[in-house]
Amino acid sequence: MNTNGFENDSLAARFPAGFSWGAATSSYQVEGSPSADGRGKSIWDTFVATPGRVLDGSDGEVAIDSYNNINGDVALIKQLGLNSYRFSLSWPRVCPEGTTEVNRAGLDYYSRLVDALIKADITPWITLYHWDLPQALEDAGGWPKRETALRFAEFAKIAHAELGDRVKHWITVNEPWCSAFLGYSSGEHAPGRRDAGASIAAAHHLMLGHGLAARAIKEADPEATVSVGLNFYPVHAASDNPVDVDAARRVDGVQNRFFTDAAIKGKYPDDVVDDFSAVTDFKFVKPGDMELINAPIDCLSVNFYSLFTVTGAGDGASSASAAPTGAGSAWPANEHIGFVTTGLPQTDMGWEIAPAGLTETLQRLHANYPDVTLAVTENGAAFPDKLEGERVIDNERREYFRDHLDACADAIDAGVPLIGYFAWSLADNFEWAWGYTKRFGLVYVDFETGQRVVKDSGKWYGDLVRKARSNR
Ligand code: NOJ
Repeated sequence: MNTNGFENDSLAARFPAGFSWGAATSSYQVEGSPSADGRGKSIWDTFVATPGRVLDGSDGEVAIDSYNNINGDVALIKQLGLNSYRFSLSWPRVCPEGTTEVNRAGLDYYSRLVDALIKADITPWITLYHWDLPQALEDAGGWPKRETALRFAEFAKIAHAELGDRVKHWITVNEPWCSAFLGYSSGEHAPGRRDAGASIAAAHHLMLGHGLAARAIKEADPEATVSVGLNFYPVHAASDNPVDVDAARRVDGVQNRFFTDAAIKGKYPDDVVDDFSAVTDFKFVKPGDMELINAPIDCLSVNFYSLFTVTGAGDGASSASAAPTGAGSAWPANEHIGFVTTGLPQTDMGWEIAPAGLTETLQRLHANYPDVTLAVTENGAAFPDKLEGERVIDNERREYFRDHLDACADAIDAGVPLIGYFAWSLADNFEWAWGYTKRFGLVYVDFETGQRVVKDSGKWYGDLVRKARSNR
């Protein structure tokens, strides 16, 4: 492959020994087989069956068939040269009704996947919750209800009891901002509710679930590396106008500080609580909750895609990363938020490409929360790839990865304890409300035949990883 401008030796040399080099996926986005072997229904099964919720009317019936393809997936990860793989457990595959009643076949699938990874010398990183809540728990009230957090802690214990002998890296919940505010406020994601007050209760219970699960895992295995997966954006005001500056404070508060302060400082930021008071009385926060949420964690999982440039005179309709399916506001109690672009190049999602923002984010996190290590557990870009013969020439994605890895190395140089990097995603898959219209993979998937072809960016990333791993 022509690597003009993409030579890897010097970039590879900037990463420390023992670094985790991976790719990430999530259960609903890749597994398919939603009714196989006793799996229960998830909120995404219900959501995709509702007309108008997913852009191309598609669903997770087949996805990329990972449920039936453990060996193929693991071979691909091996072929790329990665030493780590981040995937999530489908809660309703393991506990179909969201209770402690276990579906052995579901748990066995993950056990076989873990065994296959370890046999191939690939370290599993498990996410316990990547958005596929058992429908039975949504029927009982979903994340706005406290019981859901308690059920989640039970599920975490079940999963850890089965897999904890072989799995040492655990991410409790993935991007609770999305689950709470896209799921219960804007309605872009399952379960598609639009209730600002309920979405804040959902955010709290997701964090409570995190805290309970983190404590349970650490209690069972003090050696485990436990973290929470949050999506961070640098947030800049569109101008010096105080209205824009305040809007930037509010977006930063809800997007970045609300979840991180809770997990690591055991406190919601006062200014965000003030803003949220317009739509909730916070009665769902019980004595002792914040201490539970403030469970000791070892690592903060950073999902990074873009930056936000914010005005205070927008329509507040949605997020800058909005789904195409029509929605309410993803910013409860913050009605006039607006997002503008700044002229940077954009991905196929319309997200501005801002690698310096990743360095900024990692440095800021380290300064504010110096006691935890950091891992980039998602970073990547959608582009409209074309399969030409046996090849996918995706130079823009290759450049995106190179520039963001450079940004990671800058952060490491500045003293940030970064322990890993996971490309999103291993392979093209079901991109939620966008269905199969957006491709994020290192590997191209023909959604008709299931055929997989490593893209040029995947070959490039594999080459970089091999060099970095063989440097010492
Ligand atoms: C974040 C989510 O965790 C993942 O599921 C999604 O596909 C990517 N971002 C891209 O939107």
